[in-house]
Amino acid sequence: MTMIAPSLLAADFSRIGEEARRAFDSGADWLHLDIMDGHFVDNISFGPEICAAVRKAVGPDRFLDAHLMIERPDHYFDRFVKAGVNLICFHVELGDHHYIRDTLRRIRKAGVKNGLAVNPATPFDAVVPYLGEIDLLLVMSVVPGFGGQSFMPSVLDKVEKAAEWRTEHQAEFLIQMDGGIGKNNAAQCALAGADVLVAGSSTFKAPDMARAIAEMK
Ligand code: DX5
Ligand code: ZN
Repeated sequence: MTMIAPSLLAADFSRIGEEARRAFDSGADWLHLDIMDGHFVDNISFGPEICAAVRKAVGPDRFLDAHLMIERPDHYFDRFVKAGVNLICFHVELGDHHYIRDTLRRIRKAGVKNGLAVNPATPFDAVVPYLGEIDLLLVMSVVPGFGGQSFMPSVLDKVEKAAEWRTEHQAEFLIQMDGGIGKNNAAQCALAGADVLVAGSSTFKAPDMARAIAEMK
């Protein structure tokens, strides 16, 4: 079944530990941690210290996926590994082939899963060289930087292409979608081939989070 990963970006930051637990108690499969540096995107969120606090709050067995929207994932990823996240994803738009490939390898070597994110305006071809070397492909369905934006259905085509590529090449990476997802478009995303749906506003800001997650599933 499709997995749901609530994004902590939409949580009440004054009670971050409780909010992280609330997501899992409400049926979340993963918890999505949006890391923004004010350079790669025009917003600043939180860093490794908060991720470590979240890990402490939810215990050792919950899956935490860190989405780095920062300019130097190669320089910072280790701090997120130490903070206890399970997967580290960064953007394909950041560098040349050597930089992307090397950073992907280093993340795996550090003992966590790796992921590559692709912005709405970036074509599918940009990620193809790496599809055999990743654990997760994150197809952005909004321009990264802020929660609460509208879903861009045009990216579904990229999800379909990724799912086809995966079947053809018998690859095993997961396909994740992120941005503007809720009960009205979750099925579309899953039918296109997405395995993990990130949802911030539609989960944390729902009157009943458990119900919101159940409805999406
Ligand atoms: C956008 C982030 C998303 C965002 C999702 O830059 O990567 O994870 O928080 O939030 P909603 O579901 O509100 O679009
Ligand atoms: Zn995200």
